[in-house]
This record gives sequence, structure tokens and C-alpha cells, in this order.
Amino acid sequence: MTALRSCTGLLAAACCAAVFLPEFAFSSQTQQKQPAAAPVQYDSATRVFRLDAANVTYALGINEDNQLQSLYWGARLSPRDQFPAAHSDPGLSSFDPSIDTTPLEFVAWGGGLYVEPDLKITFPDGNRDLVLKYLSHRIEGDQLFITMKDISRAVYVELQYKIDPETGILRRAAKIENRTDAPFTIEQSFAATWNLPRGTNYRLRYLTGRWAGEWNVQEQPVNPGETVLQSRRGTTGAQNNPWFAIDHQGASDPDHGSVWFGALGWSGSWEIAIEQDQVQHVRVSGGFNSFDFGYLLKAGQSLQTPYFYAGYTDQGIGEASRLLHRFEIDSILPHAPDPPLRPVLYDSWEATEFNVTEAGQIALAEKAASIGVERFVVDDGWFGERDSDHAGLGDWWVNQKKFPGGLKPLIDKVHSLGMSFGLWVEPEMVNPDSKLYREHPDWVLYFPGRPRTEGRNQLVLNLARPDVRAWVFNTLDQLLSNNRIDFLKWDYNRNWSEPGWPQVPPDEEKNVYVDFIRNYYSILAELRQRHPNIEIESCSGGGSRVDLGVMRYTDEVWPSDNTDAYDRLTIQNGFTYAYTPGVMMAWVTGSPTWVNHRTLSLQYRFLSAMQGALGVGANLNEWSPDDFATARQMIAQYKTIRRTVQRGLLYRLIQPIHGSEQSATEYVARDGHQVVVFAFLHSSSELYPYPRLCLRGLDPDAMYRLKPMDGTLVAGTPTEASGAWWMHHGVDVALSGDFQAAAFILERVSSSPAHEGVSP
Ligand code: GLA
Repeated sequence: MTALRSCTGLLAAACCAAVFLPEFAFSSQTQQKQPAAAPVQYDSATRVFRLDAANVTYALGINEDNQLQSLYWGARLSPRDQFPAAHSDPGLSSFDPSIDTTPLEFVAWGGGLYVEPDLKITFPDGNRDLVLKYLSHRIEGDQLFITMKDISRAVYVELQYKIDPETGILRRAAKIENRTDAPFTIEQSFAATWNLPRGTNYRLRYLTGRWAGEWNVQEQPVNPGETVLQSRRGTTGAQNNPWFAIDHQGASDPDHGSVWFGALGWSGSWEIAIEQDQVQHVRVSGGFNSFDFGYLLKAGQSLQTPYFYAGYTDQGIGEASRLLHRFEIDSILPHAPDPPLRPVLYDSWEATEFNVTEAGQIALAEKAASIGVERFVVDDGWFGERDSDHAGLGDWWVNQKKFPGGLKPLIDKVHSLGMSFGLWVEPEMVNPDSKLYREHPDWVLYFPGRPRTEGRNQLVLNLARPDVRAWVFNTLDQLLSNNRIDFLKWDYNRNWSEPGWPQVPPDEEKNVYVDFIRNYYSILAELRQRHPNIEIESCSGGGSRVDLGVMRYTDEVWPSDNTDAYDRLTIQNGFTYAYTPGVMMAWVTGSPTWVNHRTLSLQYRFLSAMQGALGVGANLNEWSPDDFATARQMIAQYKTIRRTVQRGLLYRLIQPIHGSEQSATEYVARDGHQVVVFAFLHSSSELYPYPRLCLRGLDPDAMYRLKPMDGTLVAGTPTEASGAWWMHHGVDVALSGDFQAAAFILERVSSSPAHEGVSP
């Protein structure tokens, strides 16, 4: 992949060719028309299931051994195409029997399986063999449920499929039911296996990171063997994020080529295994992390796996991201398909740290309101004896020294200034130096008689315990009932250690990996139900809890504690491979930044943050009148482009990777009426001009009027030109120097004749 995609030099042809889609030029592939057909169909003659939506067809069949066999996952096929019946592979040799060489949809460990199993069970009699066969199915609209059963034991597995009509993204999961009369232990439990077309030459993209350095895009060939992306941390983690994308090496670019991509919806320890096996099948399987896994499933109980979402496009990695963004907004977020736009937020953390007081916060709130901020958030330090990160977590009562009249005077003031009010909480944690821990030392995760390893001087409350779950819920419920709080920033500042649960029998202790997260989700869901207007941000010391599981219950996420506006370009670039800019909080903070001691202009910091959901985190007490004027103008400007940035189609024009000295992003409104371009120059040298920017995703025949936003364009740039002009001729940005930024807007002034009357 090239970091630089501009009109200049050798890349011009690649950049400027085929930049629009034939049917609906300024939109994504999701809006191409397809013949109407039932999204899920079953052909009883061939025993083939077929799922069709948007530009995707997915097919599986029941073969002669009653196994569920993958048949196809790729571009949409004609309704006239008939899949032949599935036939299992005979096997390669005595070393590789049929079960290993047949691409199976969901396979248990048994019968000589050497590839990754989706399910592995140990029964109380020591038997560990499990062989699943098709039993029955039912189709409900866009959903398919297939029940499989072990050949002798009453172990039932329901495979669940749902295909999204707009994007063709499939959602898969499995439910394991114990209908035997004794408990058994599930040692590996995945949601699904995705089989790619057999072949080599695949490339894997995935995301890696750490605190203050999240969201690095990695690329590597898919070689024979296995790559495991995972978290063993009890939470999503930043080391890997549960997202993958696979394409053919050398055969695709941001706009072209097949990409298979997916993301797991789980905020606990997770695993995605990418295998190229001995017969060159590429399989992607994932679900609960199998490391230290051991879920005791009692007779009559069932275990539901997380959802594993996956999609396909033949329009490159850029479209893969846009499909995910659209899917998240339309199908995942709490108020999908029309989640509210993110308000411009102010958060006091970087200004005050733990030194929050009523007077200090009111002073900041007044200043924030004066620049157009819409939500004021009091961060850490307002509760218990919380004067540093050494004490107070768990004691969720208002600190009377800091807020003598409780939170009410501040909340009222914030509301009277026309802003909503938000509060920071970290409910799953406790400092040993707290009243809560002194009263309930057994409420944390621990192994008796072993050290309790602290992270940021805190321990993890065992949310799997029903009493702890009830306490956390009640504490938050009361907080929200007693105060007019509109928003919670829900933090989580360490990962697990010593994950013991000594209050349950030893063979049930490992259920903590599932039960903890289920209770976390259920608290979020119940709080939202009881307080329907509350909005919640998922934060974990930055971007350590961002996934499609938590996004079903939270309105926005915090990508990183690294708020350096230059570092953020890379962080935001990686983030948006998987997640929509519409949930990506981005604050304008102080300069020099605490992270790198880098000095950046306020204009640069704003333009960096305006590529996501804008916030301000700077110490407003240190701002000059000029700073306030700049901020007021930038925030007003942001409000005019916010819908395009948060809901539009993102094109990465130049990526801040591979040592690129520039980066540029383009956002096209879903209805095509507005286009916003941000351009950044990291450093200039030897008089090289900024590369010409060829826009993408416009209607070639429509006319667009240029509205410079910030920074200058080269003299002679037309004020009005066709989509074809902006895409093929391109636009020159006049940037030179170091850490410079510019932005401009195009407004569509007329539709192309061909599209008149098309309602977006
Ligand atoms: C975490 C968050 C920060 C801030 C602090 C408060 O690090 O990511 O934004 O809220 O906690 O302690």
C-alpha cells in the first residue's frame, strides 16, 4: 500500500482513474441497486443456504456427511446462479483426514481435527470427543438459525446468521446448549469460522498498540501457519484490537480489489485466529479467548458466544472501512439507525487533573460556553478522598471539600449556560485506600494467599459476582437519579491480574471471563433503560475498550490518552480502519503537549480534532483573547461540517504512514451535498510543494463550489468546478513549513443531469 495517493507523479493514473461508482457516483457501494430477493434462501434439493444482501453473497451447504460446509463468500452473484450441493473433501492422506481438508462453517474438536476448533468440550467422564452434525434449521427474514448436534451426546449448537441489507455485513454467533444431565466444561468457544477462497498471496491487516500509542495499522502476508490476534487482559485491550482485513497482495488499493474484513463484538478476553492450513485454506475464526478458558455449563444451561461480524467488498480497503462505519451507525450504536450527532465537549482533565473544585469548574464552564461548547464534563477527582490516583476509587460520594453544596450548583450552572453536564466514573475499580475496599476486600479479582497486583494503585472489582454487579448498578443508578447528569465518561484504567473468583467452586471460577463482561453489558443496558437520556463514553485509559460489543451500549469512545494533535493523525487514521469517526472523540489540548512537548498552533490542533467528534481539553485559563476568538470561529465552523464528518463517507487521500510527510482526509456527506477536506503537512523540505489532492467519491457531472475553511489554496484554484475537475484535475494546497494544516469545503450547487430526482 502506498502512503501517498495524490495526482502527482507516477501515482496519478492510479489515483484519478475510476474514482466514482457507475450507478451512484458520490455514494458508497451500499447504495447500488440489487435485484430484490429474500435475503436468506434454502434450496432443499441441493441442501444449500444462500444469503444475499447489498453486494455480497454468502453460501453454505449440508454435505453428505451432514457437516456444514462453506461454499462461497464474495461479490454478489446472480439469483440465477445455482450452487451445486456441498461435497466433503476426501482428505489428503492418512495425515490429513477429510474433516481437516473440508472447509467447515463451525467445527468441534473431535474426529482428528488439527485446525482451530470452534468448540472444544471436556465431559465429566473424561470424554473430550465432539462431532457436530446438521439437525435442523429455520429462516426468519434476514436471519438463519441452524441447529447442530453431537453424534451421541445431547450437546446442541445453534448457529446464528444475520445479513445486513445495507452493507452485506454478516453477523454470526453460536449458542451451545447442554441438554445432558451433567455439567461439562467448554474449553474453546468461538462464534464462527470464516473461510476465504482457497489460495495463497493473501495479506492481513490488523491493529496494534499500547497506552498512548494505540491504533497502528500492521500489514503482513498470510503465510502457512497461524497468526493469533488476541487479548488475554480480561478486556478488549489496545495490544490488538478485535478487527482484521484480508486482501490479495499487490491486487488491491484503497479503492479496488477484494477485501474480507471483520470485527468481534466482545469486550473481554478475545481471540481471532488467522490460519493458512496445509491445503491452503485460509480460515479466520474467533470468539472468547481460549487461553485459561474453561466455562462450566450446567445441565439445562446455554452459552451464547459474542457476535463476529464480517463483510466483503471488491472496492478496496477504503470501502471496507466505509461499510463498517455505516454499519456501526445504522446497526450497532444505541440509537441506530439515527444516533444523535456528538456535541462539542469540554473536559477538564488536562486542565485540572484531580484538582477539581466547584469554583474552578464553574470558571472553566463559563469559558467553555463562550466558545460554543455544548457539553461540559467534570473528570476524575470529584468524589471520595480522590486527590490523586492513590485513593478514593470505589467511594462514589461527592467530595464535600471540593463541592460543599454537592454537584447541584455546578450542574445547574452548566445547564444555565446552555450545556449538558457530564461526569467521569470508573465503576469497576477500587483503590485499596478506600472505604469500599476496607469494607469489602473480597470484592476484587484475587487468588487467596497470593499477591494482588495493582495497576495505577487500583484493583479490579469482580463484576461477575451478583452482589458486586448489584452494588455497581445501584451506585450509578442513584448517582443518575439524584443528579441531572446527561453523560458519563466510563473509564477503566487497568487490565486484569490474578483473575480468581474464590467464592464459587473451583471448576466454575473461570466463568469469570464471560460472566464479568455479561454483567458489564447488562449494567450499561439497564442504566440506559432507566435513564433513557443518558449518553455514555467508553474510555479505558485511552482506546483500550473499543469494540463492536461495547459500542452497542455506548455513544462514543475515547481513542487514546495521547492528545498530541500530530500523533493523533496516525491514531485517528488507524482507528477509522475499523470504527466510524462519528464516535471518535478528539480533543484540542494545550501546547506544548504533555505527550511530546511539541508546539502546535491552535488552528492545527483544531483541524486535527475536527476530523472526528470535536472536544476541547485545554486549560482555558491559559488562553489569550486571540485563542478564544480562534476557538469560537473553529467550533462554529465545525458545527457546519459535523454531520459530514460524523456520518459521511471517509476517503483517506494521503495516509500518515510509511514516513509520509503529508496526510489528508476527505469526508463526503451521505447525500453528497457537502465535501470536507483536511490537509496536514508534517514538515517541508527542499522546496517540494504539497502533493496535489485528487478528491474521490464525487458526482463527476455535478458542480461544486469551493469554500476555503482554513489555510490557503494555490492562486488560480477555481471557486466552482465539476466533480470530475476536483477528482481528476485535483486541487493544490499552499502549505509549507512544519506542522501546517489547511481545510476546505465543497458544496454541491447542482446535481448531474443523470442524477436529478434521485433522493439520497
Ligand atoms: C484515564 C482517561 C483520562 C482521564 C484519566 C482520569 O487515563 O483516559 O482521559 O479521564 O483517566 O484519571
